[in-house]
Amino acid sequence: MIKHTLLSVNDFRLRREKLFASLPDNSIAVFAANNEVTRSNDTEYLFCQDKNFYYLTGFNEPDALLVMVKSAQNSCYLFCREKDELQEVWHGRRIGQENAKADYGFDHAYTLADIEQMLPELINGKAALYYLQGANPSLDLQVASWLKQVKAGSRTGNKAPQTLVDAKPLLDDMRLFKSENELTIMRQVNVISGGAHQRAMEKSAVGKFEYQIEAEILHEFARHGARFAAYNSIVAGGDNANILHYTDNCEVLADNDLLLIDAGGELAGYAADITRTFPINGKFTDAQKAIYQLVLDSQIAAIEAIKPGCNFAHLNTLVGEILTTGLYDLGILQGDLAELINENACKKYFIHGLGHWLGLDVHDVGDYQANDKREQLRAFETGMVMTIEPGIYIPATDESVDAKWRGIGVRIEDNIAVTDQGHENLTVNAPKSVHDIEALMARS
Ligand code: GLY
Ligand code: MN
Ligand code: MN
Repeated sequence: MIKHTLLSVNDFRLRREKLFASLPDNSIAVFAANNEVTRSNDTEYLFCQDKNFYYLTGFNEPDALLVMVKSAQNSCYLFCREKDELQEVWHGRRIGQENAKADYGFDHAYTLADIEQMLPELINGKAALYYLQGANPSLDLQVASWLKQVKAGSRTGNKAPQTLVDAKPLLDDMRLFKSENELTIMRQVNVISGGAHQRAMEKSAVGKFEYQIEAEILHEFARHGARFAAYNSIVAGGDNANILHYTDNCEVLADNDLLLIDAGGELAGYAADITRTFPINGKFTDAQKAIYQLVLDSQIAAIEAIKPGCNFAHLNTLVGEILTTGLYDLGILQGDLAELINENACKKYFIHGLGHWLGLDVHDVGDYQANDKREQLRAFETGMVMTIEPGIYIPATDESVDAKWRGIGVRIEDNIAVTDQGHENLTVNAPKSVHDIEALMARS
């Protein structure tokens, strides 16, 4: 059992201080929590906090509002649900205003009912208003209404902000760089998720349903404290692996097929995003092994190249060359090798990106471009975390290749942190060599 180290109130306070440092004098920033979403009559989807709101507060209740006022003395206001005995008996405990101040470090805490009057007052006289524009339609409407109220009092001296600024670039850039404490959580959720992939390999058997393996994965996440999956698990037997976002997970596992599983838990809000592909009966066929080893070679080469200064363009070139050459050697791509490499011909079978940023969101925020000219991909820096996930997908219907390749879909995905020295692979316990996978499955 993993002993979890989670973030403290101080981690969240430091983030707010860092954001304050980027705000101009006499400005105000407003961030909204998510609302609960109805699933069907009288039932809600499990609540997932807005990740930006969570990043700045650690506060996990719906409907709340964070207001950061930058003036001579910076101050943070939280508006949240009131304590209410009856509501709490039915729906669960509420933090309330007193605990919000004492346990979460806000300077002031008010009820949701106070928002309507207080926000125009807080906004009045500020030079700039920061919020996540277009991210939350009800916040956009609220902001418009607050501004209207401030402007309505202009003859009595009110002054609305002249500048409305999208806070997204500031937040995205903060979230892109993980602190040591965030990396500790991401290591933990990777170990939990890697254990779930191991368990899936152990429990896999011809004749079981994909959803039974999904259940093993969710069980392993939850019993280690990652109660929820970071995204819907993909458990795709045989040709289903060639549907990139396959989540039906309803078919029977067949002999001599591969099983592609893309699944990661969420711990303290942070996602793991791991893919493994393995033979359902425990032994790769020669054709499966050839494709698998090629994808693995390209993945390892990309991971080995990661260090500060490198970027996704560099990795794409590297992986493109390896996959194209390998597919040519296997006779799957035909023609002139130099030309095939030049036109990155592997893209016929490697149909998605090589990776993405990872953090509170599985497809995490952060600009991929080096600058506003948007002509060059951004160089990796210490503290960034990304996935590396090459794949080869040959649909069962592809008659341009020999029949032995058809229906093979392979993706291998690890989570990598950039370090001063190069990189750290956070995905440490999900077997991925042919030998390790076959040995584990032979024992179970
Ligand atoms: N699990 C989604 C992805 O790999 O991007
Ligand atoms: Mn991914
Ligand atoms: Mn994935």
